[in-house]
Amino acid sequence: MKHFAVIGNPIAHSLSPIMQQAAIQHLQLDAIYTRKKLSEEAFDQEIKEWLRSDIDGFNVTIPFKERIIPYLDEIDDFALKCGAVNTVVRYGNKWTGFNTDGQGFLEGLAEKRPVKESDHVLIVGAGGASKGIYLALKQAHNCEVSVTNRTVAKAEQMLEPGSQDRAISLKEAAKQLSKFTIIIQTTSVGLNPEKADLPLQLDLLAPGTLVADIIYNPFETAFLQEAKKKRCNNAKRPCNVR
Ligand code: ATR
Repeated sequence: MKHFAVIGNPIAHSLSPIMQQAAIQHLQLDAIYTRKKLSEEAFDQEIKEWLRSDIDGFNVTIPFKERIIPYLDEIDDFALKCGAVNTVVRYGNKWTGFNTDGQGFLEGLAEKRPVKESDHVLIVGAGGASKGIYLALKQAHNCEVSVTNRTVAKAEQMLEPGSQDRAISLKEAAKQLSKFTIIIQTTSVGLNPEKADLPLQLDLLAPGTLVADIIYNPFETAFLQEAKKKRCNNAKRPCNVR
């Protein structure tokens, strides 16, 4: 039987075991998928032991996506560009790192509606998650992208050299909001369901704009709730808030 797992800290909240176990069952594989909490302080020691264990492959989540890199034998080009690894596979006795975060998110988005060349995408945030999505978007589509962030310099650094993409302030993004056809929220604002803070003001949201949030817990963030309300208020015809 193959053994796969997700490592991180904290890890109890992770939905990966449920999701992956369902996939294993669906594909009728002889495998199990578990979770493992590694210590932040003793990561260097614990990860070496982990790699010597009988594990066949694993996913990596916060806060180890960067720290795992020095322990791997190979890293695929895309993960290297992202500077982060979320998937590690054992080939023989070598460990190879990949990053599927951006592509995975875009596949989910495409189920709502495919990204078109005429789209103008706004990515909110410039952390690790944002970078993965930005690079996956650039790899798959030829659309225009703007990145907005509280710290604009971080958004600037993230852009592909020579691209037409733009880094703009949150204020500027709020002012120009109606021109974006897809908005992807990637900041950590919204993780706390008790706070209704928004990373970006949505007053000028166009009714036809697709708004996505990478946070899945809470299932509907304050940002998505606000987007639904504004899309409705700004529509010429009456609509239901769903
Ligand atoms: P991850 O790797 O999960 O993307 P991260 O690298 O810590 O996490 O990035 C967090 C993102 O949330 C950043 O874009 C951060 O903005 P800064 O680059 O200016 O720090 C953004 N963020 C966090 N708290 C925020 C807040 N209160 N308002 C606006 N943006 C915030």
